[in-house]
Amino acid sequence: MHSKTASSSLSTSSRIVLPNDTNVLGNLMGGQLLNWMDITSAIAAHRHCGRVVVTAAVNNVSFNHPIALGDIVTIEAKVTRAFTSSMEVFMDVYVEHRLTGEKKKCNEAIYTFVAVDQNGKSIDVPELIPESEEEKSRYDAALRRRQLSLILAGRMNANEATELKALFEQ
Ligand SMILES: CC(C)(COP(=O)(O)OP(=O)(O)OC[C@H]1O[C@@H](n2cnc3c(N)ncnc32)[C@H](O)[C@@H]1OP(=O)(O)O)[C@@H](O)C(=O)NCCC(=O)NCCS
Repeated sequence: MHSKTASSSLSTSSRIVLPNDTNVLGNLMGGQLLNWMDITSAIAAHRHCGRVVVTAAVNNVSFNHPIALGDIVTIEAKVTRAFTSSMEVFMDVYVEHRLTGEKKKCNEAIYTFVAVDQNGKSIDVPELIPESEEEKSRYDAALRRRQLSLILAGRMNANEATELKALFEQ
């Protein structure tokens, strides 16, 4: 199976925050942002493997700043690492102020997708080759994040998480 670069999976989407997307304070609801991130990152995972993908885990999301009605939200998603059938997708989320046009990064999120066949059975995906320094650093860290996610999901024994354990032994 051919390897692919991280940049070939890039998926970007922009949305304006509308009244139906907000809570009583007029700020974007977290669940709506999770949905937009799910779709944008699924497209990145699909671009990497060319197969149907399903969300296996939402690994890391934090909402650091409220996003107001009328603001423009831009999500950039790229696959950071491909394993056997699973792919980690890293997202950078930016907000553009509706009046000033000022654009700032407001959060990061990490989702895991699995490529499946027509019966929903997991199938192999191409290897990912990181190129830039940022891609290489996120690629390296993806293995530790996978181990943590699998431990939390009860799919891995903590003793087997060699790379994760090494962080605490330095
Ligand atoms: C994701 C899914 C296909 C995995 O099925 P499975 O029978 O456990 O498949 P496998 O054991 O072959 O695991 C497949 C991959 O998923 C990975 N995986 C499963 N759960 C994971 C988790 N919580 N975190 C990270 N990776 C996970 C496994 O490590 C494996 O990766 P690898 O092939 O790269 O080593 C299956 O659980 C599923 O269909 N889940 C529902 C998906 C869905 O509907 N999502 C939308 C939610 S509403």
